[in-house]
Amino acid sequence: VDDRERLDELVRQENATLVVVTTAYRGERAGCLVGFHTQCSIEPARVAVWISKANHTCRVALQAEHLAVHHLGREHLELARVFGERSGDDVDKFAECAVETGPADVPLLADCPDRVVGRRTSYFDDGGDHVCFVVEPLTVERSPGVGRPPLRLADASDLEPGHGATERPDET
Ligand SMILES: Cc1cc2nc3c(=O)[nH]c(=O)nc-3n(C[C@H](O)[C@H](O)[C@H](O)COP(=O)(O)O)c2cc1C
Repeated sequence: VDDRERLDELVRQENATLVVVTTAYRGERAGCLVGFHTQCSIEPARVAVWISKANHTCRVALQAEHLAVHHLGREHLELARVFGERSGDDVDKFAECAVETGPADVPLLADCPDRVVGRRTSYFDDGGDHVCFVVEPLTVERSPGVGRPPLRLADASDLEPGHGATERPDET
């Protein structure tokens, strides 16, 4: 077992929660399933998401000023499948689910009430295959009552990502 495999095992052991990040620019809607996400500042509050350079969502998010982060529960596996296995390069994922229009025209998933809509304060590319987007929350919504079990990486282990991380858009 090499370092790479040990890293994969450590990350799998963490069993990250999953979110769907959505955004839009000039009427073009985009969104994908994301395991790379976290709060990254307390005061002021900030959250960060990492989007693969291979993804349609990345290209739209680089233009957009606002993003929404939807925190998924275990009941959202089918939604995770749509947003994690299909690409906006090929299909309109939003045609397959109930959508609301949020602040700054960000498309919101009506079935996912636990969500943060925010303004992108910065993004950075450290040379890896994902771009980090830092978001200042503007509105935070949460379903009432005690928290429900989140959807986690292990719950989605049979999903095949719509794009491999090393893919790049066809430049021709
Ligand atoms: C379990 C799981 C976790 C994923 N995590 C991320 C992630 O953190 N960041 C990312 O950009 N894509 C992630 N993906 C891949 C995208 O959701 C997937 O390639 C999607 O089809 C891209 O859609 P798009 O081209 O419309 O943006 C993940 C996929 C799965 C199945």
